[in-house]
Amino acid sequence: MPKIKFIRENKVVEVDPGTNLRRAALDSGVNVYPGIHQFPLAHCPGWGSCATCRVLIKKGVENISRPGWKETLRMLLGPLTIFFRIGHEKDLRLSCQTTVNGDVEVETLPEPNWHGERFWG
Ligand code: FES
Repeated sequence: MPKIKFIRENKVVEVDPGTNLRRAALDSGVNVYPGIHQFPLAHCPGWGSCATCRVLIKKGVENISRPGWKETLRMLLGPLTIFFRIGHEKDLRLSCQTTVNGDVEVETLPEPNWHGERFWG
């Protein structure tokens, strides 16, 4: 059974292969929503439309599903998501659009890259 390690929370959960990452986090008491987005009406119900359930896959990116067109489009067109994506184009994911098939390490609530220090580097 795949293990998900939530680094910030120092919590490891075992899940069935194909488990949705957002669902696994919420079921184990791990918050994936920053600030006001924690409130149910301030985020979508896992449709990939609000882009607030962002996580960084720190290890095991090969063990998660590939981003679909909806997630890719949302990440590219979101007005704020660009600041989270810079330098993390392959490992920043929407947890609600990600399924887990093997061991992964996940950082919830990643910081934005407002000043672009990785943008020019
Ligand atoms: S919960 Fe809205 S995009 Fe994931």
